[in-house]
Amino acid sequence: MTKLLIKNGTLITASETYQADILVEDEKIVQIGQPLHAPDAEPVDASNKLVLPGGVDPHTHFDLPMFGTVSSDDHYTGHKAAAFGGTTTVMDFVVLDSPRAERSASAIEAQGDFKYSVDLWMEKASKAAIDYAFHMNLTRFNEAIAKDIPSLVEMGITTLKVFTAYNGRLRLDDGSIFKALRIAKENGMLVMLHAENGDVIEILVEEALKAGHTSPEWHARTRPAWGAVEAGLRVAGMASVADAPLYIVHMNAAGEVDMLDYARQRGVKVMGETCPQYLFFTMDHLRRPDGAKWICSPPMRTEADNARLWQGLADGTIQTLGTDHCPFFFDGTKPILYEGQEIAIPGKELGADDFTKIPNGLPGVGDRLPILWTYGVRAGRITPNQFVALNCTNPARIFGLYPRKGSLLPGSDADIVIWDPEKRVKYGAAAAQHRTDYNLYEGWELVGYPEKVFLRGKLIVDGEQWLGRRGGGQFLKRIPGEVL
Ligand code: URP
Ligand code: ZN
Ligand code: ZN
Repeated sequence: MTKLLIKNGTLITASETYQADILVEDEKIVQIGQPLHAPDAEPVDASNKLVLPGGVDPHTHFDLPMFGTVSSDDHYTGHKAAAFGGTTTVMDFVVLDSPRAERSASAIEAQGDFKYSVDLWMEKASKAAIDYAFHMNLTRFNEAIAKDIPSLVEMGITTLKVFTAYNGRLRLDDGSIFKALRIAKENGMLVMLHAENGDVIEILVEEALKAGHTSPEWHARTRPAWGAVEAGLRVAGMASVADAPLYIVHMNAAGEVDMLDYARQRGVKVMGETCPQYLFFTMDHLRRPDGAKWICSPPMRTEADNARLWQGLADGTIQTLGTDHCPFFFDGTKPILYEGQEIAIPGKELGADDFTKIPNGLPGVGDRLPILWTYGVRAGRITPNQFVALNCTNPARIFGLYPRKGSLLPGSDADIVIWDPEKRVKYGAAAAQHRTDYNLYEGWELVGYPEKVFLRGKLIVDGEQWLGRRGGGQFLKRIPGEVL
């Protein structure tokens, strides 16, 4: 049985900062106080260090098929990168019916619509190195699917992601989204929204290509911020009519924050997530020769959008920081060394002549805590307690994992990060540990970094040493969460 005594650290929670010791027994925090004595426990000295709950990332895409390739981190490599960045829980999106062609109508009839897809994702995630949960992409809707949605709750999946973009692939019409909101409400589930205007995007993309515009910046120019703003408010309005909660993922535009505030002020149960990339980068990055590195959907906007998102985090309008981690190689024809082996996975080069063929997504799961500490907390934009609330506690509460995850409380899983607030790191692809050939924050100077990371009491990261293992992570069945 693991027995640890973490001594003399400064604990940071979502609401408090205080000096205390933590006693861990058999995967759980059993006692917090000062001073604690446990001569039979292994001591961990946290003097001059901060002690945080393990990060909870509510938004990842590991091993996701896209545009003829696949996101380059799988459920082991991505988990390892997450752990090095202080994150011990991730929530990944299950693709509905992938690959659908393999299933006959009678198999769908017998199994239901979701079980097959969840089983496939479970299989992919069997190599998990940290704890994980799933969201379901609701990308088709009919009566049979509507009936089958409650089966997800039994499987521990209490969230449905819907899209107002990606016409012909992932998008649901407004009526189906409204029905999904009602079903979610009846079953204690939460609808998550990808907010963009698919019809407008389709027309703008067609016009851009016809005019010979093929470079990465046209990805952003064909996906206007107004689409995100109006789609977010439109679905918030539907959520209000359905009296259902709603969570808007990857918020990227100032107007989205304004509309979130507008809806929340009027009692709509709508919450928001933004991602580090939308706080630091703009459409100008897409104009660089290596602009494809910054391609994700929704796209980067302007400095005014960055500033409004920061303000939304600081004033509590936005509840969480996720990463939308969905990495691709910048040049997937050139191998990198990963755990001693050469690996290359087709990536952004697939769209060298056409921005619509560049796989959408970026690395980020390991970056979130280190980048946000230096450029959020140390820069005075958010407090240490807000840092913990946004990155750990609020995602756990909203997604039905609290107080097991995202908190330092007796009874919580001993997912603990010993954080060295003085450690200086020149950040980039080498430090980040993602399985890809670039990092958005290459060369950024960081002060403050994870020193030790514990997953349920087991040390999985010790400085630069990886002590985790494939299969060491557990699937987390979630219960209905809170509306914050
Ligand atoms: O570009 C992105 N974000 N790729 C992942 C899919 C999504 O919509 O979140
Ligand atoms: Zn999305
Ligand atoms: Zn996503």
